[in-house]
Amino acid sequence: MAIATASAVPTSVLKPKDSITVIDNRTGKSIDIEITNNSIPATAFSQLKAPYADGERPENDTPYGLRVLDPSFINTAIIQSEITYIDGNKGFLMHRGYPIEQLAEKSSYLETAYLLIYGELPSKSQLDLWNWEIMHHTFVADDLQQMIRQMRYDSHPMSVFISAFSAMSAFAPEANPALQGSDLYITNKPLMNKQIVRILGKATTVAAMAYRIRINRPFTPPRSDLSYTENLLYMMDHMAEPNSYRPDPRLAKALDILFILHADHEMNCSTSTMVHVGSSLVDPYSCVAAASAALYGPLHGGANEAVIRMLAKIGSVENVPDFLERVKEKKELLFGFGHRVYRETDPRSKVIREVADMVFEVCGREPLIEVAIALKDAALKDEYFTSRKLFPNVDYWSGLIYKAMGFPLDFFPVLFVVPRLAGYLAHWKQQLDSGKNKISRPRQVYIGKGRRDYIPVEAREARPITGKTGLNAIPHYISKRRLTKI
Ligand code: CMC
Repeated sequence: MAIATASAVPTSVLKPKDSITVIDNRTGKSIDIEITNNSIPATAFSQLKAPYADGERPENDTPYGLRVLDPSFINTAIIQSEITYIDGNKGFLMHRGYPIEQLAEKSSYLETAYLLIYGELPSKSQLDLWNWEIMHHTFVADDLQQMIRQMRYDSHPMSVFISAFSAMSAFAPEANPALQGSDLYITNKPLMNKQIVRILGKATTVAAMAYRIRINRPFTPPRSDLSYTENLLYMMDHMAEPNSYRPDPRLAKALDILFILHADHEMNCSTSTMVHVGSSLVDPYSCVAAASAALYGPLHGGANEAVIRMLAKIGSVENVPDFLERVKEKKELLFGFGHRVYRETDPRSKVIREVADMVFEVCGREPLIEVAIALKDAALKDEYFTSRKLFPNVDYWSGLIYKAMGFPLDFFPVLFVVPRLAGYLAHWKQQLDSGKNKISRPRQVYIGKGRRDYIPVEAREARPITGKTGLNAIPHYISKRRLTKI
């Protein structure tokens, strides 16, 4: 498969040092702030304070100096990183300097994971050891398996995945800074490496278990002689076939490329959660559970699932114009379109189109593809979408590929989170290795009520239960066969 290499590969992304002068027009105070790598420290603004005389400060006004308000982190950097670089205007993505197109064509998922986590492509012997360790940390403890088995047959696989990682923390007391000391991962790097291979190794096993619960089949033990994605497909699908059973290598390869494309994407919602939670020095299993929960939402890793539900709801090509009208009226969201960072194109979606063709060749063309293509073509010609720089993102196509491969819809986010663990771990390691970790603690701008005194309940004004001002009456299931009604 030939994958185009991006033409604009920046050799360096660092900018020279410079400065910016800010004048507070309330007081005339001027401050010079150093610009480093095209960024300024937000803390510099705290020098600018409102000009109140003593005792005149309004009740809700902050005494701490000017705050930088940035809900949803639209333009706030929370780390300095050497891992992943995105140029959103050019549609360019690279990991540790290597363009994503080259990694997708030439690397493997586990090799890319090594690159992300340790900073360089591994030598042959480093890669062999890395693969061996990960494929020999795939077993999940028997009591954890039993816990996973207790989850309901209709649990969303992401709920199972998150719960399993959360529980893993309880199965590894030696890896828990709460028990072993808060500087555990600052001082004990071999222990850190061990958790990294354990997390990557167990992720596919837990993913396959989350799938097998849904179809009421026993768990399949992992096989260390298979590749990472082959083993995942094997654990999902193996039944009573002899041990020579192998998943189709073309699909294992396609999945491996998809895993490379999903391995990291710098400060997305879930990776920033990993960094945020990790900053408290909690154990990495709890961090992974929290980050995976952030990924699960429909605006993030749940979008690939939402795309298929949307295409199925549209149903056929004739219904595309009506659907787009509803999107423009803001009655619907066009899932799989738009991105906070990319403004022209998502480089991963170009590669993924080629993977789609590989998969359709093996599994047959996914019927919803006609609707998907008509929807994409119509949206890309429509001023509403072009003026807002909305175009297909990686999730637009990945869902179609997963559906063609026969994965159930609710399993799609699992196929996103498993490879994203490499990115989570790379950022977790970078943060703890930096020697500069401080607990993440954002500020807020309070806009609520001023100070007031407590009123006893008997003295408060009567207010009806409307459902708008507080808790409304919640309907309870009451059996018709009860003698006493509640
Ligand atoms: N469908 C319809 N309108 C949209 C969409 C969309 N998918 N995305 C953005 N818009 C509109 C939005 O309503 C707003 O319009 P207006 O200016 O009239 O208010 C404008 O475009 C700007 O959007 P925004 O909400 O400011 O964009 P954002 O950067 O906050 O949101 C996003 C980014 C990815 C959450 C959003 O584009 C979205 O909800 N997309 C659909 C969900 C999706 O595909 N998510 C996967 C993202 S890629 C994988 C990942 O990183 O997880």
